[in-house]
Amino acid sequence: MAGQPDCKRAPKGFVTQVVGPAEGIPAAAALLAAGEVVALPTETVYGLGAAALEASACAKIFEAKDRPLSDPLIVHLPSRDWLDQVAEVCESASRLAEHFWPGPLTLVLPRRSLVPDLVTAGEETVAVRMSSHPVFQAVLQAYGKPVAAPSANRFGRISPTSAEDVVAELGGRIPLVVDGGPCAHGVESTIVLVREDELHILRHGPVTAEELARFGTVRGRVAGVSTPGGLASHYAPRTPLVIGEAHATAAEEHLRKLHHTTGGTGVPPVRKLSIAQKTVQHTGGTPVPPVDLHAGNCPSVGVGLLSWRSAGVGFQHVEFLSKTQDLREAATNLYGAMRRLDAAGLELIIAEPVPETGLGAAIMERLRKAAAR
Ligand code: TXA
Ligand code: MG
Repeated sequence: MAGQPDCKRAPKGFVTQVVGPAEGIPAAAALLAAGEVVALPTETVYGLGAAALEASACAKIFEAKDRPLSDPLIVHLPSRDWLDQVAEVCESASRLAEHFWPGPLTLVLPRRSLVPDLVTAGEETVAVRMSSHPVFQAVLQAYGKPVAAPSANRFGRISPTSAEDVVAELGGRIPLVVDGGPCAHGVESTIVLVREDELHILRHGPVTAEELARFGTVRGRVAGVSTPGGLASHYAPRTPLVIGEAHATAAEEHLRKLHHTTGGTGVPPVRKLSIAQKTVQHTGGTPVPPVDLHAGNCPSVGVGLLSWRSAGVGFQHVEFLSKTQDLREAATNLYGAMRRLDAAGLELIIAEPVPETGLGAAIMERLRKAAAR
C-alpha cells in the first residue's frame, strides 16, 4: 500500500525498508515532506535525500552518513525553473543547464539566501543538478521542492550503485530505500564551477572534459575552492588498494607490512609479490615461476585484481571493469567491483589503470582516491 512506510526507530536507529517505485515514490515524497531522509536512485549513484530548504532535515543526512558539516551538499531541482531561486545563473551556466539537464552534471554557482548555510557548508556557492532518473524525478515532482542529496554511503566510503549497496552502507540508519535497479552511469556526476566562460572541473564524471569544452574554457580546480570529496582519501574500500603498474613496488611494500604487523602469524600464507621484478615467491621461500601481470599469471593468495585488460589468472579474486575495454561499462561496474573485492577478505587490491581519456579521467580520479591512505 502506498503512503508513509512503517519507519519506527529501532533502539539504535531505523528499520530500513526497501521498496519498489510504485510504493516508494509516494512514500519517499511523504518522508521528505515530514523532514526525514530517504535513499533514492539517480542515473549516477544512489543519493540520500532530504528537504534541501529545511536545515533540520538536511542535518539528518550528515548524521546518517557520519559526514562532517564542512562538506556541502548538492541541491537537486524538480525543474529548471527552480535554478534561479537557489543560484545566480550566468549565461554559461544557463547554456550548460539547457544542454546537459536533466543529466549527470552538477553546476557550482553563486548561491541565493533561500539555501540553508548547512547545505552549502557556509560557502558562497551552491552545487545544483537535475537528475534524469525517472524514479528520482517522480519523487521530486510529488514532493515539489528541491532535495539535497549526497551519495548514500557512509562518509569516505564507496558510493552505492544499487539498493543493496545502500542497505550495506546505511541499513538501520535510514527509514527507506526506493529500489530503482542498478545505476546507469555508476560514478557520481561531473562537478563544474562556472565562472563566466571558465569551467573549472572540480570532479570528473560522466560529462567529460571534451564535451564541456564546447561550452567554455575548461580548467582544473581553483585555489581556495573546496573540492568535492576534498580529502585525498575517498571512495575507499577497507582493503588497501594500489594502482597496478605504476605502484608495483608499493604493492610489494604493502604485503610486506601486512605480514610484519602480525609478526608473521595470524595471516594466511601470504606470498611476497614483486610485480616489478616479475617474480613471486611464498614467504616460506619456495620460489614460483616468474609473473607477468598482463599475462595474467600472477598467483597471489590474499591479493585481488580490479582488471582493465589482464586475464587475472592466479589472483584470489578478480573483477573485470570491462572485458571489451569500454570506459562507460567500466564506470558502471567500478564501485560494484570495488565492493565485491572489499568483501572478499583480501589483504590487497591491485587496480589496473585505465586510459585517462573521456570517462577514464573519472575512473582514475576515483582509483587514486581509493588508493590514498
Ligand atoms: O552524482 C552525484 O553527484 C550524486 C547523486 C546522488 O546526485 N551526489 C553526490 O553527492 O555525489 P556527494 O555529496 O557525495 O558529492 C558531492 C560533492 C561533495 O564532495 C562536496 O564536497 C561537493 O560536491 N560540493 C557540494 N557543494 C559544493 C560547493 N558549493 N562547492 C564545491 N564543492 C561542492
Ligand atoms: Mg559522495
